Amino acid sequence: MELPYAEPYKIKMVESINRSTIAQRKQWIKEADYNLFNLSSDKVFIDLLTDSGTGAMSDRQWSAMMSGDESYAGSQSFLKLKEVVNQITGFTYFLPTHQGRAAENVLFSAMVKEGDKVPGNSHFDTTKGHIEFRKATAVDCTIDEAFDTTVLHPFKGNVDLHKLEKVFKENPKENIPFVILTITCNSSGGQPVSMQNIKAVSKMCQSYDIPLFFDAARFAENAYFIKLREEGYQDKSIKEIVKEIFSYGDGMTISAKKDGLVNMGGFIALNNEEVYKKATVFNIMYEGFLTYGGMNGRDMAALAVGLDEATEFEYLESRVEQIAYLGKKLVSYGVPVQQPFGGHAIFIDANKFVPTIPREEYRAQALAIELYIIGGIRGVEIGTVLADRDPFTRKNRYPELELVRLAVPRRTYSQNHMNYVAAVLNNIYETREQAKSGYRIIDEAPIMRHFTVKFEKI
Ligand SMILES: Cc1ncc(COP(=O)(O)O)c(C=O)c1O
Repeated sequence: MELPYAEPYKIKMVESINRSTIAQRKQWIKEADYNLFNLSSDKVFIDLLTDSGTGAMSDRQWSAMMSGDESYAGSQSFLKLKEVVNQITGFTYFLPTHQGRAAENVLFSAMVKEGDKVPGNSHFDTTKGHIEFRKATAVDCTIDEAFDTTVLHPFKGNVDLHKLEKVFKENPKENIPFVILTITCNSSGGQPVSMQNIKAVSKMCQSYDIPLFFDAARFAENAYFIKLREEGYQDKSIKEIVKEIFSYGDGMTISAKKDGLVNMGGFIALNNEEVYKKATVFNIMYEGFLTYGGMNGRDMAALAVGLDEATEFEYLESRVEQIAYLGKKLVSYGVPVQQPFGGHAIFIDANKFVPTIPREEYRAQALAIELYIIGGIRGVEIGTVLADRDPFTRKNRYPELELVRLAVPRRTYSQNHMNYVAAVLNNIYETREQAKSGYRIIDEAPIMRHFTVKFEKI
């Protein structure tokens, strides 16, 4: 008899969340200029804005925090974390940073220059932002299947090797500082990259003498998918799979707020001493001394435990299967979602959900706002607002997909919360044809506008 999965933990502490009325939420979202980032959290019932830094730490992590060593130099928590990072990733050099984008800032300061091309699989927005800020270009080489939400490809985060080789052939090696492989690929829907693809990308990088780096925010979830979906990995442990993934690369940046199971933190790990030395200068300048780099000793202590817990099969099973539970419920209601389901989030296909709202009126943003008004649920737009303007023409970029992402924090919400989310979406779906108009932007920042953009209702 096959038994359902169940969480390999029980609850020791609870946090109250607030219910509110539709009338209240209509008023609050208007006051927030229709930007969900502007809402104070007490006005949100179920917060699926992000899975970044929003998860619950374990009792082991909380007790590790009490033994955090806050020494400015030579912190024992740093040394312990360095050891764990080396055990898990195999990389030699290690630089802590305060979060993922800080790791990008430090590494890219050392490696990316004006005019460079940085190929990868649908770069995350901060990654792209840090590349474009340096007047370089992020080249998306993701497989075409990733852009059709109905295609059931098991590894939609994969790189198209033809697209990658084209970049290698059309640009001098000196202008390609590295390839960045995002595991799992957040921007294409939390989709994994297969081991076979990682190996092939690595081989191609080696033959062109170009380094391969991972954006490893959700490396453990990626490893879980490899174990489940890729031949030859069923009997390997998650830790073995993780070690193999990283063995094909030269280094990594990570936002530890995801698969590090902590609320704040990040790091760079790599093998090349020369790059490490260059990066240390920027780490000291932007982040802090090398043995804390923007993190408290106690946070480094919690991260060392978090990395160990996140690479355990039972934890990952309950994590990824909770997302799938929500996904299956939505599919049963006919709600169009990205399939297969991602590792950290469900992505609703707004092009299919509300084609009645013009794209110029930000239909995915409109759907995210409706979800908040009807159910007090906060998701996030992953579409035209996020895609920002072209840095050269300043025109809106229209990505292939207009998505609303429901990112589920780790070890935080129950199955009943998932039932509630699905029921609210079902209600909105049943009345979707009435939605005819969206929103117009009235104020936006020159880069990464989605965080602070202001809208008005059309
Ligand atoms: C794939 C990926 N890379 C990088 C980042 C940036 O990390 P942080 O938010 O810690 O700066 C994120 C954050 O969501 C991400 O999902």
